[in-house]
Formats: sequence, structure tokens, C-alpha cells
Amino acid sequence: MKSSRTVGFTAMRNGSAADFEIINENDEITARELPDRIIEHLKEMALDDGAYKISRLDHVLQCATRAHRDGADDDWVAAALVHDLGDVLAPFTHGQVAAEILRPFVKEEVTWVVRNHGIFQMYYNKSLSQQERNSRDKLKDHPYYQSAVYFCEKWDQCSFDPDYPFESLDFFIPVIKSVFTRPPFRKVLGSPGFATH
Ligand SMILES: [Fe+2]
Ligand SMILES: [Fe+2]
Repeated sequence: MKSSRTVGFTAMRNGSAADFEIINENDEITARELPDRIIEHLKEMALDDGAYKISRLDHVLQCATRAHRDGADDDWVAAALVHDLGDVLAPFTHGQVAAEILRPFVKEEVTWVVRNHGIFQMYYNKSLSQQERNSRDKLKDHPYYQSAVYFCEKWDQCSFDPDYPFESLDFFIPVIKSVFTRPPFRKVLGSPGFATH
């Protein structure tokens, strides 16, 4: 978006405090627009199917529908919606991309599961060696291991089904707007500042 006010400098080292106030104000507007950006990106996922039987958008909608019908809270439903957001821009690290989008807004457990879900999904890939498929075993002692197994088994790996009746993107917009406008890194969720989890 073109800003109504721009800074006076051409190199950051020459910027004044007032210049950076302009930047800060703009950053706040950008942050408020995050839900809309996520919704737009999800819509773009309708154009790509990754050779599965349904589009990438329908996959995450099925995944979120299963989480919702399973009684999962908003953190998990939001995670199900965005867990594959990085698929096409970060094909080798898409879980990490999605986790970083979620991390300021959701509980640590959810971020961890999304960050690592690619490793847990390998379990279902029969083109891999047995050793590769069991890569998740390396995380067996982690307190969130079972949550990742559950996320993949119950919601993710089964959500490529053209016959599964699922909710529309419109149905999930209130959750997207609610989760991604939370105050970032809420202490109440046990998510300290910029800690990595
Ligand atoms: Fe994924
Ligand atoms: Fe997925």
C-alpha cells in the first residue's frame, strides 16, 4: 500500500525519531491488516492442488473443519487453516514459515506442532525409506509429540478427500480475525517475548 506520509531519509542511519514514528505507525496498520492478508493468501491456495485430489485451500479447510468438529479451540483451528501457508514459497521449510506466522498469537504447543508437522507427515509417505518415515521418532520424548501425532493423524493426513463435507472459508473468517488480531506474544498463553518455540 502507498503510504500517505513517508520518511525524510534515504538511509536508515540518517533517520530522525519522527521518521521512525512514521514507520511504527505504518507497521501497526500492516499488523492490523494481517487477517485480510491471510485470507487473501488462503484464497490463492484455491488455484493449486499439488497433484492431490483437492486444492490446497480445500485441504486446509477440511483440516480446520475436522479440528472444529473435534472440539479444538481457536488456536488449533487457526493452526489447521494456516499450517500449509508456506507450501509454495518454502517447499522445504513450509512448517517453519507457518509456525512463525502463528507464533505471536497462539500457545507454544500449537506453534511447535505446526513447525514440526512436516516431519510427522513423513510417516505416511510410502515413497520414503522406513527410517525416513519414522523421522518423528527423534522427537518422541518431546512433551508435544503426541499432539503432533494427533494433528497429523486426525486432521491433516486424512484431509485430501473430495467427498468429505467441509466448512467454507467464510465460516472460518471470524476465527482468523480473532486469533490474528490478538495482542502478540500474550503472557497469558505462556509465550514469552521473542523466545523460539
Ligand atoms: Fe504441511
Ligand atoms: Fe496439510
